[in-house]
Amino acid sequence: MTQRLGQYLDRVREQLGKDVVVTDPDLILPWLTDWRGRWTGRSPALLEPRETRHVSVMLALASELGQPIVTQGGNSSMVGGATPDDSGDQLILSTRRMNAIRAIDAKRRVAVAEAGTILETLHEEARAHDLRFPLTLGAKGSATIGGLASTNAGGTQVLRFGTMRGLVEGVEAVLPDGSVHDGLSGLKKDNRGFSLDQLLIGAEGTLGVITAARLKLVPLPRGRTTIWAALADLDHALDLLTRLQDGLGDRLEGFEVLPHDSLVAAMEHLGIASPIGTVSPWYALVEIAYPQAGEGREKVEALLAAALEANIIGDAVVAANESQSQALWRIRDSLSDAEKAHYGMATQHDISVPVADIPAFMAKVREAVEARWPGSQVSGYGHLGDGNIHLHVRAMERAREDWRQAEGEEIERFVHDIVIAHGGSISAEHGIGVMKRDELARLGEPARLMALRAVKVALDPAGIMNPGKLIP
Ligand code: MLT
Ligand code: ZN
Repeated sequence: MTQRLGQYLDRVREQLGKDVVVTDPDLILPWLTDWRGRWTGRSPALLEPRETRHVSVMLALASELGQPIVTQGGNSSMVGGATPDDSGDQLILSTRRMNAIRAIDAKRRVAVAEAGTILETLHEEARAHDLRFPLTLGAKGSATIGGLASTNAGGTQVLRFGTMRGLVEGVEAVLPDGSVHDGLSGLKKDNRGFSLDQLLIGAEGTLGVITAARLKLVPLPRGRTTIWAALADLDHALDLLTRLQDGLGDRLEGFEVLPHDSLVAAMEHLGIASPIGTVSPWYALVEIAYPQAGEGREKVEALLAAALEANIIGDAVVAANESQSQALWRIRDSLSDAEKAHYGMATQHDISVPVADIPAFMAKVREAVEARWPGSQVSGYGHLGDGNIHLHVRAMERAREDWRQAEGEEIERFVHDIVIAHGGSISAEHGIGVMKRDELARLGEPARLMALRAVKVALDPAGIMNPGKLIP
């Protein structure tokens, strides 16, 4: 441990007590590797603040001494955004003990939750008030509100409700110098210059620590329909999306697609049979919610019948009850793990292009990558309604130890170039973290890079917050 680190930890203990610093290596170990197992770092201690004041003291001291801090919530970053580097010099600040839901105001439909609150816990609490926090994703059992806000997380119901940026009404956060920004008041109008809250959302912990967030809640739907539809290709998927949007408006909450090879991986991983009798190149998983019970099912069935008639879908299964609906979503939520277990090494891309361009984009990538790297396989699943596909290039028989390091990185650049040529983004929802920092530097337009660097230097002159992530 360096002298600076020792001095820092002593002063934190002096001011806040011993129990906010954990040095037992067994307790630190689980937090040193990202959940996909791609990056492992070192950290001699975990900081465990219990309240905002603790974070304030920790950051003020860190700024004074130049001590690097990596903030971590549920450790479910897909881009190594919350893993310390291997210098042994960075300290993890875990928000997990700051997990109180400070308030749920059912009348105003708002919750104030501390950073370490687990998403699923917020879902349950909101449901107890007949309300819903309408952002969900596969990692809901571990992802925390602070991490979700810091990364502007998306998930499977962005289509109707947007990403965290649209669902957070304000944040409480500690800036690198220890000052506290309180944005929890819930003002509808506040034009005192640019929004610090929005700046911190998506900053990936590089500008400070979000300690709590004020979150929009919506009424619980009284009914829902979940559909699994078989599709010949992505053009048909877009046609179905358009028909459902036209016919259902904002009752359409989610529109996800997956290819048959992803379903095969999920069936094996979960030990289940296919939810549909037809084998098809693609499937759509569609979620429709109704404000009133018993509303709308006939309309959905009529829309599906018309889509069948027009040969847009080959077949469809409509969940008959809540447990069937959950079983369909379980398939979708398992895909990340299932793909990893079934297909092994793959380079993974989280890209977006304009929604209408997805079919042409996917065809282009498949053709170009498989021609350049014979034996690899391009596949993708995800949030078609948001123009966001998790595009995987599977190593298949090419699999070797150096797949990701050498060939994988070349493939990543190759795919990203096609994304940019389509006017897209190399990070639709997972963020930049450590994984895409160099690609952001290579491809980020000058204005974006200049602004990122300038804001970082202005707010964090000592460079203590999540060094090595996001900012090229
Ligand atoms: C998802 O949509 O399942 C997640 O963003 C994770 C992923 O598969 O990349
Ligand atoms: Zn996703």
